[in-house]
Amino acid sequence: MSFNLRNRSLLDLKSFEPRDIRFLLDLAAELKRSKYAGNEHPRLKGKNIALIFEKASTRTRCSFEVAVHDQGGHLTNLDSAGSQMGHKESLKDTARVLGRLFDGIEYRGFHQSVVEEIARFSHVPVWNGLTDEAHPTQILADLLTMEEFGEKPLHELSFCYLGDASFNMGCSLLVGGTQMGMDVRIAAPADLQPPAELVAQMRELALTTGARISIETDPLKAVAGADFLYTDVWVSMGEPEAVWKQRIEQLLPYQVTASLMRASGKPRTRFMHCLPAFHNLETEVGRQVHERHGLSELEVTDEVFESEASIVFTQAENRMHTIKAVLVATLA
Ligand code: CP
Ligand code: NVA
Repeated sequence: MSFNLRNRSLLDLKSFEPRDIRFLLDLAAELKRSKYAGNEHPRLKGKNIALIFEKASTRTRCSFEVAVHDQGGHLTNLDSAGSQMGHKESLKDTARVLGRLFDGIEYRGFHQSVVEEIARFSHVPVWNGLTDEAHPTQILADLLTMEEFGEKPLHELSFCYLGDASFNMGCSLLVGGTQMGMDVRIAAPADLQPPAELVAQMRELALTTGARISIETDPLKAVAGADFLYTDVWVSMGEPEAVWKQRIEQLLPYQVTASLMRASGKPRTRFMHCLPAFHNLETEVGRQVHERHGLSELEVTDEVFESEASIVFTQAENRMHTIKAVLVATLA
């Protein structure tokens, strides 16, 4: 393709064109094949990359680390505790310093405005590793995974996102699915649906991409005919523990169970989750919720999570291949 993404930041998929996303997915598939074949060519030699995590991470952090290592670049890890950022130095000043030292910056934190400010003042590519509003690198991995398992072009596939659709995952899946012309369904209670302004923007965009968007409160109606059922945690990082009780009451009808999987009416419907997931009592938070609220599985049952239909670990692997594609496309 003739265009390129060099020096672009990835702050939100909204600012990318469908053809940019197509380019990144194709590049990710190519990089995945090269890694499997053992003939990957390092294209980030001499590049210095900073990672800033103000919230915890397993997949995103490790994906950036492995991707940069595979491509011959160098990494520095920062967080708010281990640097002056926020305590003794403003964000704007920190961004200007980092921009003089690094070729690119990954940032995970709270408000979208922070990642935008880092991009504005650093003048180097900045990649959003998750904010309250958006998780664009996750969506690239999800689209690649749907393409791999769906065995059809994305615009012929449908997914249903169930649960809290007002936060990063629901909003970003709506954006990514609309950009790629997919059949996008969201099943969530009225007050956990994506912001009206975003929905209006996506309905407008759908007129050109061919996406079909349906936002429902009824989970059974929403999943009918869906190729993928997707969920996320009911309480996200940074939200107060006090919201668990209400979320459980609101979201239990949206729990992904074997019977909801069957309600898609398709024999090969797959289960997706960005992870981490609460599907048993093997986590500290899971046990606390169990003690306080009596549930031993939350957004997805252990049966579905562990079933043949679950493709969550391919999604997790694809985080690395797609993040590598973003780094190569914007820096190499
Ligand atoms: N899915 C995801 O972003 O996982 P981490 O929080 O482990 O990075
Ligand atoms: N909505 C979740 C996504 C984690 C990848 C959170 O923000 O905690």
